[in-house]
Amino acid sequence: MCGIVGYIGNEQAADILLKGLKKLEYRGYDSAGIALVGNEGIDLYKEQGRIAVLEEAVGTEAPGTIGIGHTRWATHGPPSRLNAHPHQSTSERFTIVHNGVIENYNELKKEFLQDVKLISDTDTEVIVQIVEHFVNEGLSTEDAFRRTLSVLEGSYATALIDNDDSDVIYVGKNKSPLLIGVGNGVNVIASDAMAMLHVTKEFMEIMDGEIVVLTQNNVKVKTLDGHPVSRDTFTTDIDESDTEKGTYSHFMLKEIDEQPFVIRNIIQKYQDESGDIKLDENIRAAINDTDRIYIIAAGTSYHAGLVGKEMLEKVAKKPVEVHIASEFLYNEPLLSSNPLFIFISQSGETADSRGVLVNAKKNGYRSITITNVPGSTLSREADFTLHTYAGPEIAVASTKAYTAQMAVFSILAMDSARAQEIQTDFNAIQELSLIANAMEVLCDQKDVMEQIARDYLLETRNCFFIGRSMDYSVVQEGALKLKEISYIQAEGFAGGELKHGTIALIEDGTPVIAVTTQKATNLNIRGNVREVEARGANACIISTEDTKQDGDRIVLPTINELMTPLVSVIPLQLISYYAALHRGCDVDKPRNLAKSVTVE
Ligand code: F6R
Repeated sequence: MCGIVGYIGNEQAADILLKGLKKLEYRGYDSAGIALVGNEGIDLYKEQGRIAVLEEAVGTEAPGTIGIGHTRWATHGPPSRLNAHPHQSTSERFTIVHNGVIENYNELKKEFLQDVKLISDTDTEVIVQIVEHFVNEGLSTEDAFRRTLSVLEGSYATALIDNDDSDVIYVGKNKSPLLIGVGNGVNVIASDAMAMLHVTKEFMEIMDGEIVVLTQNNVKVKTLDGHPVSRDTFTTDIDESDTEKGTYSHFMLKEIDEQPFVIRNIIQKYQDESGDIKLDENIRAAINDTDRIYIIAAGTSYHAGLVGKEMLEKVAKKPVEVHIASEFLYNEPLLSSNPLFIFISQSGETADSRGVLVNAKKNGYRSITITNVPGSTLSREADFTLHTYAGPEIAVASTKAYTAQMAVFSILAMDSARAQEIQTDFNAIQELSLIANAMEVLCDQKDVMEQIARDYLLETRNCFFIGRSMDYSVVQEGALKLKEISYIQAEGFAGGELKHGTIALIEDGTPVIAVTTQKATNLNIRGNVREVEARGANACIISTEDTKQDGDRIVLPTINELMTPLVSVIPLQLISYYAALHRGCDVDKPRNLAKSVTVE
């Protein structure tokens, strides 16, 4: 969470920094600020709220061709102007922005800042004050910066300006994402490439424990000990238009609509010219060699993992456990003798998952990351990466990344079955083509989904989702979508569990959305619907051509039962979208959330 940017070049920095921050707003939007090297020292602008508020405060004429900026998701101290970045040292000589969490900031305060009056509640202010402390002891700014970073515990991507030598931006990184953008007579920094595509497409990765001394024409990478590091640049193929809404009113709606294209893209990327699955031999070997797969993820990615488990177990006959990363981290189950870890993460930056990966690596276990961001922390640190090719996902609520993750699992499962010579009719590629078509049909029925949102969700305080087997995993995702963007209290339940407690919550008019795509459990879930209706619930049933009955609100095209979540989630995403829209919620940037959760 939080995003940082920096610019050093010939053009007006404010405009470029603000544009970059808007692209990073998905990382947090409690407050924002920029610091510019102005005509008479550092000009500081900070505001509580969205970037738009900051933009208005900065105006169009702010001078300066060097600056740093920040958009915040509050960790230490509430969202406020005071806690907004950038932060300055007492003398105002040093100005800093920071993404991450300094875990030992209290200890550092006691050790180095006994006589310093801190003005914010943030851990970040401690960093900038310690830099000043070391400079006061006689160190150069660069040495003081390196010395400061070496005493920090936790995560940081940080950028510092020294008002006494303001042609330089000092940059440091540990665990939090950070890229340097390299241009002609201009250099930039950003938490993610999307934020600086308007300046350059050429980027340089920075590793944990490195610093960068950035001037207009030079990028010097060093270790914390001051040893120079040489690093090549790479060119990103992300197009700036991929990060724009185009004619859509919200990124979420655009990303829902993109799903058929994403699935077709995945088919293309994972097939060779002869139509065979194209997968790294090492990944194939890792799946085949293991005696148990441990899928680790959070939120929506965890829900994709639940489906991935079914695919790997049913098609590839591999035993699989799925774990919530934050639970696994501090309560590791008894592992098998030859475990393989699969991390699923849209952003590739989720701190909880990374914690598990760090431990797995320490123990010498192999790992694969399934991610939408190759080059992200989880991608770099795992042994292998499977790319989901969904394109930038900007809306905080994940949609296309979820279906892409499941699509990649289906390919993995089919490939592993073939490698083990397991007889199966399951053909992931064929299924995915049918799914792309089915998604298109559903995306064309927005009026139906909007009407359902109006009929069931405009006034309600809560909503229950029920399903069995594959439908149980998708209703958990449906409930998460609805709650995070509409603030309706929504839960996904296993249909059979209702009468073991939950049914007590059903009142007159309680909306219950039931998904029934599995022939084996169709009658059971319909029984559950009758039970809740008998107690006053207002039920909405989503079925398939194979399970439909009169009165069902949505009938999905028929696809392989193992793959139904890829299709049944589309109406759930759209219903949530319209519910949030008509309840006046900020669909793309729901309260309290951030897209990339880089703190535990
Ligand atoms: C919900 C959502 C989150 C993420 C979760 C994990 O719509 O987006 O639940 O799925 O924070 O994030 P990643 O996949 O980036 O690890």
